[in-house]
Formats: sequence, C-alpha cells, structure tokens
Amino acid sequence: MSFGMRLGLAMAIASLALLIGCGHDDSGGTIADAATERGFYFGVALADATSADAQTVVPAHFNSISAENAMKWGELANTVGNYDFRRADAFVELAQRSGVRLRGHALLWRDQTPSDLAAQIDAASDPEARMREVVEEHFRTVLTRYRGQVETWDVVNEPLELFGNDVDANIFYRTLGPGYIAEVFRLAHELDPEARLCLNEALLTYVEDNARTDALVALVQGLVEEGVPLHVVGLQGHFTSLNAAPQRARIEALLHRFTELGVDVELTELDISVRYFSGPTPFDEQAVAYADVTSACLAVDGCRSITVWGVRDDESWLDTYSLFRGRAPHTPLLFDAALAPKPAYTAVRDALRVRR
Ligand code: XIL
Repeated sequence: MSFGMRLGLAMAIASLALLIGCGHDDSGGTIADAATERGFYFGVALADATSADAQTVVPAHFNSISAENAMKWGELANTVGNYDFRRADAFVELAQRSGVRLRGHALLWRDQTPSDLAAQIDAASDPEARMREVVEEHFRTVLTRYRGQVETWDVVNEPLELFGNDVDANIFYRTLGPGYIAEVFRLAHELDPEARLCLNEALLTYVEDNARTDALVALVQGLVEEGVPLHVVGLQGHFTSLNAAPQRARIEALLHRFTELGVDVELTELDISVRYFSGPTPFDEQAVAYADVTSACLAVDGCRSITVWGVRDDESWLDTYSLFRGRAPHTPLLFDAALAPKPAYTAVRDALRVRR
C-alpha cells in the first residue's frame, strides 16, 4: 500500500474512532486530523510500540511516530553485530497498521552504541578499517531491513559537542576522521535512496543568532556544498526550563536559516517544561508556548513536521535525565498522567487549523 493510501486509511480509522466515541471527545477534532488535512506530520515518540498507550494515541491523535530508544544502535544490538529487532519491528508494524509515518531515530549517535564498540575499535589492528566495517554492517543491516518503511532517518544525531560549538570529537570522528558525517550520509543514501536523510541536533537556545546556531548552519552548509545527500535538519526542541523559553519569531528566524540552505527542517523532539511558567494557570501558558512553536514551524516553507518526545507527562525523560531531573516534575507533554489531553493539546490542534 502506498504511503498516501495508508494515510487515507489512517484518517478514516481516526474519524471512525471519533464517531464511536473512543477518540478525543472535544468537537474540534484531533491533532492527527488537523495535521493530515494540511499535509503536515505531527508525531509522538513512544517508548514501546506495543503498549496500550501507543494503541490509544496512534493513529487517533498523531500521524507520525518515532522510537524513543528502540531504533538506536545500542538498543538494536547490545553488542556489535548481535541484533534483536523485536522492539524496533513493533514500530514498523504499528506504523504500517495505522498508516502513520515512521521516523527512524537514529543510525549514529555517540550515546547508546553497542556496549563493546569502543573495546572492539581499541583492540583492532587497524581501528579505522574496523570502525568502517562495523558502521557499514550496521547501516546495511538496518537500512536494508527497514527500506521503504522509514520515511525519514536521523543519520547522525548530535554531531556537535554537547557543551561547546565544535563538531564533537566522538568515537566516529576520532577513528574515521572529520569526513565521517559526509561519509555516512552517502552510505545511507546508497542503501536506501528513497529515504529522507536528517542531521539531528540539540540547541540550548532556539534562536537564530547565537554561536551554536552558527556552528550548525556552517556544518550543514558545508555538507550541502559538498553535494552530500542531506535532506532535513532536525532540531530537537527540548525546552527544559534551564534554557530560554520558546519565542515564536526567533524560532521562525532560526528555521529560515536552514531552509535558506535548501534543506527541510523538522522539530524532532519537542517538550516544553511547565517550570517556565509561574502565573496562576501555568498549563495555559504552556499551551501558548506549544501553539507558538507550532505556528513558527507552519510559517516556514520546508518545516513540515513536529514530534513531541513522549506521550504522557509522568513518563517524560526530562524527569529522570541527570541534567534536568533537579527541576522535576516538568509535566512537559500534551497528555497528563491519566492520558487526558491538556490545554497544550488543544492549542496545538487549533494552531494546525489556522490557514496562512
Ligand atoms: C533519550 C530517551 O528519551 C531516554 O529514554 C534515554 O534514556 C536517553 O535518550 N536527544 C535525543 C534522544 O536525540 O534520543 C534522547 O532520548 C533525548 C535527547
């Protein structure tokens, strides 16, 4: 079945779910409907594609999914070459059955690699050749298995240093050299020529004019000028309350810096901590911030997707990750702990309904 047909089927299923009363009961419809109607992907990251929550929210509320962890190298292969595809396959099955888009996250990331990767490289007589061999084997295994199922792949995640603005001297950079990013994009394109290939990065501040933005723009521009098959820049969009709150005009200007280079852009991992907001109705303020981010993306040609990083508030990674858990609870998502849609849900949906 073609992707368009699957999407059509998903819309029909979602409408039916609403009619029989098991969808969102607000008469304004769902995010999935609003997104699909305008040719936009509004996605969600799921921890487990077989969970009850996953079945409840997909495709009723979202028309795109990402695996929060299951498709990362270290999750697919605990040790190099030792694959267990069950959790990742479940994402492909959910996407197929529901007619939603699947984002592949992520082929290469310095974090969450097979536990013996560094040791294998260290032990090799030719570390560069060994790294090239295992990366090629990984890309070939995964991209061949999921060819035609993953519409967009994050090929490299977080190429920049986490704190700092240089290209990160991670294990791939150290062994393969500075050309590793171009090299693996070319490899991915060869193995799955139809997939859209994405470079995904975290900014601390989502503004158009700071040093980290400049560094990412320079990296992307260099790759584009070299003719590397890079189609999308993913900006994660974790608003943790430790960085600046989202500002619509500045996000719009930021997105333009990438689309001007001829690539598309997506917000791939959006969450907005409620800890920014101290007024009497913080969840209403959070809703405005969500609407602002959504509107910023919609205002930019070439920004055609947003993914929120998790379903319900009590499961957000921000509450357990070392850098951010000090400010928990962040309650940063679109559904509360009881899986009821929050004001942010309605705000996103309404923003998606606004015509330009
Ligand atoms: C996070 C997951 O949400 C956690 O469950 C996991 O423990 C660590 O990774 N940037 C990314 C995502 O690209 O893959 C990360 O996901 C969050 C930061």
